[in-house]
Amino acid sequence: MRELKDLDWKNLGFIYRPCDWRYVAEFKDGSWQEKGLSDDPEVRINECAGILQYCQECFEGLKAYETVNGEIVCFRPDLNAERMYNTAEYLCMPPFPKEKFIEALEKTVKANISCVPPYGSGASLYVRPYMFASGPVIGVKPSEEYTFRMIVMPVGPYYKGGAKPVAIMVSDFDRAAPRGTGHVKAGLNYAMSMHAHEEAAAHGYADNLFLDPAERKYVEESGGANFYFITEDKKKLVTPKSDSILPSITRRSIVYVAEHMLGLEVEERKVEFSELESFSECGMCGTAAVISPVGVIHDHGRDIVFGKGLEEAGPVTKKLYDTLTGIQLGTVEAPEGWIYKIA
Ligand code: PLP
Ligand code: COI
Repeated sequence: MRELKDLDWKNLGFIYRPCDWRYVAEFKDGSWQEKGLSDDPEVRINECAGILQYCQECFEGLKAYETVNGEIVCFRPDLNAERMYNTAEYLCMPPFPKEKFIEALEKTVKANISCVPPYGSGASLYVRPYMFASGPVIGVKPSEEYTFRMIVMPVGPYYKGGAKPVAIMVSDFDRAAPRGTGHVKAGLNYAMSMHAHEEAAAHGYADNLFLDPAERKYVEESGGANFYFITEDKKKLVTPKSDSILPSITRRSIVYVAEHMLGLEVEERKVEFSELESFSECGMCGTAAVISPVGVIHDHGRDIVFGKGLEEAGPVTKKLYDTLTGIQLGTVEAPEGWIYKIA
């Protein structure tokens, strides 16, 4: 039996809770240098660091789980390594090598193994790799020095309802510009999303739905998750396609699950906001969000209600949730290459 931290695993919430070890690497003089594991949660940087002046930063989010067999695994970490690589390139940062990303993941999760929530708790170990410009700049240009860190924390559900449906509202603000940074995981996108999120929260909603920034006609995503919809006849999953949303690994996975494991038809296409009333289920999907059913979308004085609203998730959403979490926890056979064993 592995040793476990003394935590209330079933009531963790989604908050920062530092674990003992974090992985650090630094980019200096044109190459990445591994600094290894550190027990210091504080970061000390120059007052003119690129992150502080011009927000040059990117990050990732993935999870480690204890499976039904007592193994510690991660879900498709190769895709996080790849997305972080692409994000860094787009932000003119030196990409962190993908194989080093996986090595860092192994080291960090192993070092903090007592923080991985036990099987059956409903919680998981959230892994947050991030990279920022640590060298000084004052002219607007990429920094010459960067820091990569990978931190972990045990977390519960992102939305308070967990698998219960939430109500969200339509935002009047945009998250990303057309041909901007919406398709990469840059911290600046999240700074952009906060105004809308806080407004939604102030009105009692769990999150907001962003429309496309060019025409405000199509569904984009929320501040931290992609969307999917299920047709009235329960035969088809429809998910928005857009150049300004994050290519969610969870969404790509549930598209596969829907098509190859649940026998649904899948359409990835532009989804008009005006067609939402014709769908019977709606969900948000992401690493933190997992699959969060949406019962109600509030749109300027009217409510669009899916299935039984806030009472319970629809049957297809339940199946998607059970299959995806079953794959992650080892109770459902995973498609080839999806589960990365750490210990
Ligand atoms: N969209 C945004 C804006 C996100 O921040 C996230 C979270 O990572 C997602 C979608 C879901 O992506 P993934 O499933 O890869 O976690
Ligand atoms: C994630 O799901 O990993 C994210 O980065 C989303 C964020 C809202 C926590």
